[in-house]
Amino acid sequence: MDEEKIRGYFPILEKKIKGKPIIYLDSACMSLKPKPVIDSINEYYLEYTSCGERSSHAFGRETTKRMEKTRERVKKFFNAKNASEIVFTKNTTEGINLIAKSFPFQKNDIIISTGKEHNSNLVPWLQLAKEKQIKHNIMSTDNGFNLEEFESILKQQNCENIMVSIVHTSNMDGSSNPAKEIIKIAHENDALVMLDAAQSAPHKKIDVKKLDVDFISFSGHKMLGPTGTGILYGKEELLKKLNPFMTGGDTVKETTYTSVEYENLPEKFEAGLQNYANFIGLGEAIKYLGKYIEDIEEHEIKLNTIATEGLKEYVNILGPQNPKLRTGIFSFNAKNKMDFHEIALLLDETNNIMIRSGAHCVHSWFNAHNMKGSARASFYLYNTEDEAKHFVEKTKELLKMKK
Ligand code: ALA
Repeated sequence: MDEEKIRGYFPILEKKIKGKPIIYLDSACMSLKPKPVIDSINEYYLEYTSCGERSSHAFGRETTKRMEKTRERVKKFFNAKNASEIVFTKNTTEGINLIAKSFPFQKNDIIISTGKEHNSNLVPWLQLAKEKQIKHNIMSTDNGFNLEEFESILKQQNCENIMVSIVHTSNMDGSSNPAKEIIKIAHENDALVMLDAAQSAPHKKIDVKKLDVDFISFSGHKMLGPTGTGILYGKEELLKKLNPFMTGGDTVKETTYTSVEYENLPEKFEAGLQNYANFIGLGEAIKYLGKYIEDIEEHEIKLNTIATEGLKEYVNILGPQNPKLRTGIFSFNAKNKMDFHEIALLLDETNNIMIRSGAHCVHSWFNAHNMKGSARASFYLYNTEDEAKHFVEKTKELLKMKK
């Protein structure tokens, strides 16, 4: 990876605060945006602001064309069969909610998830469990994903639908679940699988056909794209079975005062005027990411190894101790008990090093482990070895200050 070339595409990296450069280590929450993404958003507002899929004038045609180009790029990037399997959402959360609310679940159906789910892949199921009397089985993955236990849980079920809805890579500690094996076992036992790919899609190649996954939800803003953009992928035959999640303009072909005929896929799930500028930006993000996607993980592991080796004497690392199993995520608590929020604040105030602290929307795991949260540095393609070393040095200095 040509670090200098890559960094040249991210104007925000030139920014200085109090005369000093910034080190941005919070891409697991929000990635930075390359110039082509920013330019394409501006271009929409400066050159052809309009409604897509409705207005047939020159501006409207341009918007429609570019929106479909994004869909085509996403389809190719994830090797989906048809562009109609790509549904535009607001973010990962919306995609998961769409499935939770639209899938024809029945009383006594079962959801299987893990103990490390983001609130976005926990709360919709807790809600559904109450509303529809669905059972929710949460598997601990603290010692890795136990495929035998998983298979035996599946074999014990006797219900109409089993949905396995699991995080692909944890935003809390960087650990990953073996998606391919999980999907194979699930299908052998008539279960469907949805992956929360918010932290995997930006960092490694995902081929939905090879994985044979049923649904995947992820966010554009973590993969160099604009905020307010997300994708739900679903196999066409399954998406067809779902009722629209939200209805209104663009989800219908025809209405009378008493009836409605819904649109085809994917429009039936995309209600109202769309976030055109930002989805056009997402298309540029996907194009840019495509150049590097095969190499990102290796780069992140290199930086995570620097952080792990440099700080393991001073901190307890969450998740697997081997950085190869945590790719870009370095989540930690100080051995000297310095508060995780204080670490993040001081690194920012004194050195412009931006990391995240808190429960990372995985409160359930922290509560179950009697912990309040952690400090978390997350690396991406534009971070450098020097930045990782600087983060190590400054964190060490900080932790040595407090006995
Ligand atoms: N899921 C986001 C994060 O991990 C918000 O920071």
